[in-house]
Amino acid sequence: VGSREIVVVANRLPVDRVVGPDGSSSWRTSPGGLVTAMESVVEELGCLWVGWPGDIDEELAPFELGAMRILPVSLSTEDFEGYYEGFSNGALWPLYHDVIAQPEFHREWWESYERVNRRFADTVAAEAPADAIVWVHDYQLQLVPAMLREQRPDLTIAFFLHIPFPARRLFAQLPWRREIVEGLLGADVVGFQREQDALSFRFAAERYCGALAHGNMLRLAADDDGRQRSVLAQEFPISIDAAAFARLAESPAVQRRAAEIRRELGDPDTVLLGVDRLDYTKGIRHRLKAFAELLAEGEAPLGEVVLVQVASPSRERVAAYRRLRDEVEQTVGRINGEHGAIGRTPVVYLHQGFSRDEMVALYLAADVLVVTALRDGMNLVAKEYVASRSDETGVLVLSEFTGAADELRRAVLVNPHDIEGMKAAFLRAIHMPEREQRRRMSALRAAVSGNDVRHWAENFLRATEAMAAQRETAL
Ligand code: G6P
Repeated sequence: VGSREIVVVANRLPVDRVVGPDGSSSWRTSPGGLVTAMESVVEELGCLWVGWPGDIDEELAPFELGAMRILPVSLSTEDFEGYYEGFSNGALWPLYHDVIAQPEFHREWWESYERVNRRFADTVAAEAPADAIVWVHDYQLQLVPAMLREQRPDLTIAFFLHIPFPARRLFAQLPWRREIVEGLLGADVVGFQREQDALSFRFAAERYCGALAHGNMLRLAADDDGRQRSVLAQEFPISIDAAAFARLAESPAVQRRAAEIRRELGDPDTVLLGVDRLDYTKGIRHRLKAFAELLAEGEAPLGEVVLVQVASPSRERVAAYRRLRDEVEQTVGRINGEHGAIGRTPVVYLHQGFSRDEMVALYLAADVLVVTALRDGMNLVAKEYVASRSDETGVLVLSEFTGAADELRRAVLVNPHDIEGMKAAFLRAIHMPEREQRRRMSALRAAVSGNDVRHWAENFLRATEAMAAQRETAL
């Protein structure tokens, strides 16, 4: 990457402030794939990161964190309810994930979304160094690129969507579809996880904003001064720092912890593992249903097979997330009540987040990772599991509806809506001979290390620089 400075703009900062019971405060890594991926990129590049520190009405001064300068943007209760819980997570999130939950389109939410996007854009416009690359992230900030371009034409603006972009008939439902596409077209590059996302976006740009697509390139209509601009809209599948996971997996302390976890689980023959934010897109209920039926049918005997489900807390004030938590916890209670015994339960459920070391120990302790998302932009947990399995054993059961399924073809692919199919896949994974595990896992590992997050960032930034150069010669 060239010499331009980088500004990262995301709804969240890479760290959350947590206030302990004694009033002391500390920082911990924020939840979700966006931060997992970007953390390792900016560790190397350094940047200014503009984002929200995770609490309501929190006014924080800028500060340094490793190679980053952090610029907090505060959200009031009204912003939190309208922009974050409302428009971002009550309208866009369900719409962009195939309406698994019903999106709601409230006009006050939209106004709040516009207002907060404007505040992010103004903050960046005031702080970004001349000619910097501004890299805007995810569905919460889709209006920022155009708002920023208006004020700072010197900047090179890139946008990456971490979640799916909806199919044309779904996107058509959004009352503000034109405004969203116009917002995104303020960028020089708009990046997506999968080819189908980029395709749906290019269609929307033609349909709602009069752009013309030539391959991945969108030619925009001329502005008032007769100037024309092009936008690259293409897939750039995101990844993880594969080497960092492999290194942790080699650490004797992590390996000791993995052995200890298996002992603590009562030394079962097979450990199945699920790791998700507690989100309705992740298919946790479908997974539990399939597992419960295997238990009832005697195919996963108590003590021989255990399912460990890590469900990290997420968006707990949003009604759909509260309902989901109740349902999941009731189901786990029912399964353990029916099929457990004293000192032994078939499902170990943890509503907690864990450190990366503990996660890798869990990956090493698990014979099978089950990713059964109904829709997922990428799913980095699948890639983390693969990167951690340096002895090349272990089985990945992976939903077809994740971005990861495009690259991880040698996983056991499942349709999570098909409970019988999922049960068959779980059994196949539980009984898979070691030779087949190794054949598959080594292919999966090659896929993940061939496109790690550094590779992703380089490709994306290279494409961005090329577009900037093109824009400059056009001026
Ligand atoms: C996903 C989204 C991110 C989001 C994360 C956690 O990974 O793509 O933009 O930050 O979930 O969700 P939260 O609402 O807690 O930020």
